[in-house]
Amino acid sequence: MGQHNRRPGGLSGCYAPRVTEGNVLYYGDNLDVLRRHVKDESVDLVYLDPPFNSNANYNLLFSEHGEKAAAQIEAFTDTWEWNTESAAAFQEVVEAGGEVAKATLAFRTLIGTSDMLAYLAMMAPRLVELHRVLKTTGSLYLHCDATASHYLKLLLDAVFGPQQFRSEIIWKRTSGHSDARGYGSVHDVLLYYVASDAATWNRVFQAYDSGYVEQYYRYTDENGRRFMSGDLSAAGLSGGGYEYEWRGVTRVWRVPPATMEKLEAEGRVFYTRNGFPRLKRYLDESKGLPAQDVWTDVEPLRSWHAERLGYPTQKPLALAARLIEASSNAGDVVLDPFCGCGTTVDAAQALGRRWIGIDITHLSIGLVKHRLADRYGLEITRTYRTVGEPTTVDDARVLAKEDPFQFQAWALGLVGARVAGSDKKGGDKGIDGRLYFHEGAAETRQIIFSVKAGHLVPAFVRDLSGVLTREGGEIGVLISFEEPSAGMRAEAADSGFHESPWGRHPRIQLRTIRQLLDGKGIDYPHVTGANVTHRRAARVRPDAPETLEMFERAAEEPEAYDSD
Ligand SMILES: C[S@@+](CC[C@H](N)C(=O)[O-])C[C@H]1O[C@@H](n2cnc3c(N)ncnc32)[C@H](O)[C@@H]1O
Repeated sequence: MGQHNRRPGGLSGCYAPRVTEGNVLYYGDNLDVLRRHVKDESVDLVYLDPPFNSNANYNLLFSEHGEKAAAQIEAFTDTWEWNTESAAAFQEVVEAGGEVAKATLAFRTLIGTSDMLAYLAMMAPRLVELHRVLKTTGSLYLHCDATASHYLKLLLDAVFGPQQFRSEIIWKRTSGHSDARGYGSVHDVLLYYVASDAATWNRVFQAYDSGYVEQYYRYTDENGRRFMSGDLSAAGLSGGGYEYEWRGVTRVWRVPPATMEKLEAEGRVFYTRNGFPRLKRYLDESKGLPAQDVWTDVEPLRSWHAERLGYPTQKPLALAARLIEASSNAGDVVLDPFCGCGTTVDAAQALGRRWIGIDITHLSIGLVKHRLADRYGLEITRTYRTVGEPTTVDDARVLAKEDPFQFQAWALGLVGARVAGSDKKGGDKGIDGRLYFHEGAAETRQIIFSVKAGHLVPAFVRDLSGVLTREGGEIGVLISFEEPSAGMRAEAADSGFHESPWGRHPRIQLRTIRQLLDGKGIDYPHVTGANVTHRRAARVRPDAPETLEMFERAAEEPEAYDSD
């Protein structure tokens, strides 16, 4: 099958040689980033959780500060339409030829020029690129749901070859769902493919379900430990055994007499009513069941879960951890091209893998950075690079021109604030961003931001002051490209101070983009943990018992990235 060689041609031929280095967060369209930056056969594991063609706009709802403060941010529009752009994407896939082109043409015959075809035309070149970057020992997991999983499986068959399909994993993502006209839809699908038969595979285990435990672990010892009855006789075992008499019973046993004595001394042997010895196999010593393709033991994220950040499509760390442990080894490179709030990146970091995360919104990239700092400490910022974000004032101007909403998200992210406003255009009654901080026990205070990409006029300071009074905020910050005039600075200086236990902080503060890029932050009560704008990810503590298994390798230093 033409497209199954390790270097599918056509779709990526026109790009310059790629450089892949250490842990990296890329801001940008993953198709472009993959083509420009990620080398052939340099990645061990891909997990992708693309936004889905469900005809819905995903909004981020940060509601932890109450309804009034809730900000809706359009993180991404989860809709594809059949339009000139998707028609061009379709054409590009078809022109590249091979199995993927054949599959895509067949889709058009089957489903016509529909929104689903637009979605598949978007996915096709990305899957081709992901296949290209996988090592021969690599694996890919595509997370989707039943609406498109059947089409995506055909597409993956075309990209990888049907023989490289390994599993369709069903993840029960919610406990119950009421669908008026059919069965409640409670599962997601993960399609698991390998680059070749040499793919990395480590056996992973899942907890037994309660029915299994009830049925098989029927006994309890004097200390309350559950166990199942294990065979000590070697009857029926092909390898033979040891024939001797034990407590009046002569049999071929599985273990030599010395081991039997030891087990007896440890209290691990019990006797049936007929006096027949059996082995106690303790539940708390069992690794569990080798993982099956139906996952009911990975809990969906609930509002009270510490790892929940408020990102609507956030997946559980345990889900990412399972497939990372199964399909990669320590030091391997894990790539998530739709990384959202960074679940895969976080799990990869915890498990001592190297990682590459890509997302098309500054909001996501900002969230991932905060998440990593919260979990692993600020030192982690020295261990990865961020590519695609503006690093100079000129870059920032380009971004502001191309996409004012992304520019705002980026500028606010520089000081740990987030975008306010319910849509791309609007803003929230003169407020472009907010930052919440704690002062004293449980009081939440806020800083209100106004971001101006264009010409500055003195009225902006007055307006901000008015908004601050109206909203009951403590501090107002005006961010601009232009230097504020002397008059504006004087007006800001006359606005007074916010008094906190840590000192006096100017009530109106003016910051240019240059100052923010140079690291000049906002003057506010800045004690550790004061900023509570984003829900904080729990810090990794290798000693915490509930996370021990997952994070025990977190302390390992990631090796310097060298994909050759
Ligand atoms: C379903 S979410 C992923 C959630 C993620 N698994 C997590 O646990 O947070 C999909 C993400 O893909 C991003 N995205 C959509 N189109 C993209 C593209 N072309 N390139 C890169 N990222 C994209 C969206 O911004 C969104 O954050």
